[in-house]
Amino acid sequence: MYGLLRPFLFRLPAETAHDLTIRSLAFASRHPGLLRLLQLFSGFRDERLHTDVLGLGFENPLLLAAGLDKNAACVPAWAALGFGGAEVGTVTHQAQDGNPRPRLFRLPEDAALINRMGFNNEGAEAVRARLSALGSAADPEAARPARLPVGINVGKSRDAPLDAAAADYEASLSRLWPYADYVVLNVSSPNTPGLRQLQERGPLVELLGLAASLQETEGRKPVLLKIAPDLGDPGLADICVLAEEYGLAGIIATNTTIGRDGLRVDPGEAGGLSGRPLAARSLEVLRFLRARTDLPLVSAGGVDGPREAVARLRAGASLLQVYTALIYRGPGLLKDILAGIVRELEREGLSSVGELTGLDACVQLPLPRGSQTGSSVPVSAFTVRASTNRRSERRFRNLSTSAFTVSASCSSTTSRSARRHTLLAACSAAAAGCPPGRMKFCRGGRSASRRSMTSSSQLLS
Ligand SMILES: Cc1cc2nc3c(=O)[nH]c(=O)nc-3n(C[C@H](O)[C@H](O)[C@H](O)COP(=O)(O)O)c2cc1C
Repeated sequence: MYGLLRPFLFRLPAETAHDLTIRSLAFASRHPGLLRLLQLFSGFRDERLHTDVLGLGFENPLLLAAGLDKNAACVPAWAALGFGGAEVGTVTHQAQDGNPRPRLFRLPEDAALINRMGFNNEGAEAVRARLSALGSAADPEAARPARLPVGINVGKSRDAPLDAAAADYEASLSRLWPYADYVVLNVSSPNTPGLRQLQERGPLVELLGLAASLQETEGRKPVLLKIAPDLGDPGLADICVLAEEYGLAGIIATNTTIGRDGLRVDPGEAGGLSGRPLAARSLEVLRFLRARTDLPLVSAGGVDGPREAVARLRAGASLLQVYTALIYRGPGLLKDILAGIVRELEREGLSSVGELTGLDACVQLPLPRGSQTGSSVPVSAFTVRASTNRRSERRFRNLSTSAFTVSASCSSTTSRSARRHTLLAACSAAAAGCPPGRMKFCRGGRSASRRSMTSSSQLLS
């Protein structure tokens, strides 16, 4: 179906095609018959795709990324098309037009887009009114689609000075809070001057403090931070620490990039680059974050098919988001990705998508200096504490070793820290030449895990 529509849409300027699509989906959202028709021709349903993340149940892990439905005009249509969740926005306190057109560019040779939209949206009050017509997140009788968690992504109004950013966020958040299943603090769009400076420690602490206080006054809600792929390692590491310290529910990585690496044809337009050229960096950021925090991670940036989707899940993403690939491939993308995830579950002998999360989150440790794989380190010198989950024991048999590093993967266990510790324990044992059958398992708490992780690392360094 999209194959027939695409040539027509691609003959139009990119934003005109976008507006037409959103208007059509908004129309369908108001007509249950059309929604049923959409549902008939799209989506992919399989119980193994259900996943519980952020305290919410998602029918599948594939979500609509922010920016496509800025004004929450098409929420029922996203459910009908088979998304596991939808993130609306970015919404700002003030309605704003965004940057002058043209501001959205297709890069078909690279399966990419460049945009400098600049948070064009109808403002928090209009979006609140639209969402309130669908009902609150807490109301089971609401008209909003059942089982479609809706995230509300909030950003700074262009006119708000940077040093008053927190108050501007607060004005939006207090209006939208009751209608969000989860809230996203967007500090990473490259198209609002100065916005990315909010990722720096000082302003970020203020914003995270605000989110923490709203949890007290407006009610508990998962709050996530959406970050840029252009942050360096120290910035990313800082964000992990602060996100945990301020009780964030997760991190969305990543927004668009200001980089132009990997482009075959660079149109020389300013703005954020999305789609395939962003994939490698988004995966890299995901891996970096996964190694440093136990928080749920949502991966966005160049997810364009089953292979990329599976790689993100295996690298530690709990949820995925798509935007650009949807423009190029249409709603058939969902079925393609979700069917691919189910095939991967079958190949791995796993029973739900949550078990795929972090399967490749390898801990790589240097072997003791001068030693070969399997060389002997007395096993009695450290205690192996790991989950007694049967599946992880099965995965231990897949331990692989190489000359200088030992890596192992295991499936989901009771908690991410237990899983990370399980990997580390497996690495330690493998480095010590201990066959899996001789490893001792006992359940260890979070702090015990951390302690023995340290001692294992010291042993091997
Ligand atoms: C035209 C366009 C507009 C976007 N607008 C927003 C936005 O308002 N807020 C936001 O957080 N991300 C926005 N994004 C970023 C996407 O949500 C996503 O993080 C990014 O495009 C990477 O995913 P992709 O490669 O699948 O497109 C936008 C992306 C595009 C292409």
